[in-house]
Amino acid sequence: MLPTPTKITRVEQETKTVKTYYFDDQSYAIPGQFYMVWVPGLEEKPMSVSGTRPLSLTICGIGPASIRMNEYKEGECMFLRGPLGKGFRLEGKSVLGIGGGYGFGPVRYALLEMQKKGAKTKAILGAKNKDWLLRPAAGCETIITTNDGSSGKKGLVTDALLGLFDSGEKFDTIFTCGPERMMKAIAEICKDRKIGCQMLLERYMKCGIGVCGQCVIGDRLVCRDGPMFGIEALSFADFGATKLDRTSERIPI
Ligand SMILES: Cc1cc2nc3c(=O)[nH]c(=O)nc-3n(C[C@H](O)[C@H](O)[C@H](O)COP(=O)(O)OP(=O)(O)OC[C@H]3O[C@@H](n4cnc5c(N)ncnc54)[C@H](O)[C@@H]3O)c2cc1C
Ligand code: FES
Repeated sequence: MLPTPTKITRVEQETKTVKTYYFDDQSYAIPGQFYMVWVPGLEEKPMSVSGTRPLSLTICGIGPASIRMNEYKEGECMFLRGPLGKGFRLEGKSVLGIGGGYGFGPVRYALLEMQKKGAKTKAILGAKNKDWLLRPAAGCETIITTNDGSSGKKGLVTDALLGLFDSGEKFDTIFTCGPERMMKAIAEICKDRKIGCQMLLERYMKCGIGVCGQCVIGDRLVCRDGPMFGIEALSFADFGATKLDRTSERIPI
């Protein structure tokens, strides 16, 4: 599969550093799947699907490749390869989505797809401060948390999650995406309460199709076996602890 030039039809500025790009592409991708986005002269980087029909990607300008992506304008083309990987299992009658920072993009898409299936949805949207909060999911009751209390409740998404459980709320499954330590804490809470948890894991990717081995976690490959993993990820020694960098050196998370 080669990168396909795909026209940008609209650009939405979600935060100072995050933009959602809408494309002239009507293909369907399951929430949690990703596209490799090639930036000529730089790198090809995975980006989670944040909507389909039309396809959208929500990009946080954090380093050379993603900052360059966020300079693209409506009418220009990005080079996309996908959809790739295994996304969320869209099942359950009552679901909770938890997103940290730009990780809320694919979670928001999953919640909207679950609403179409008639499921009851709720969300916890967290960020370090109000400037990093993405747009909530339409029609979904959302608890906002910020580390500094500049919007919503001061604290972590896990505080809000424990608060929901303490007030007797029940969910069939939890979709989550964000910093890996946040997801690990959520998985541990879900394991204790015997609730299904579906996480989108991130690793440095090169091929995106299970060939190079760069995105290994435990005995799996994030691009081929994930990026959606369940509570079984808690058994991977490197989950929330270490990852391979671009030169395949193991570094702390
Ligand atoms: C399956 C998958 C899906 C992804 N989906 C998205 C998405 O929807 N939107 C999106 O914006 N990005 C997403 N990413 C991350 C993205 O692929 C890049 O890793 C990211 O854009 C940084 O690339 P860069 O080359 O711009 O910066 P780099 O040079 O890789 O990083 C620049 C600096 O930012 C730090 N950094 C890199 N990644 C992160 C991070 N995730 N959080 C905090 N600091 C970081 C690095 O340590 C470095 O200091 C996804 C990654 C994976 C594996
Ligand atoms: S990125 Fe190459 S195996 Fe996953």
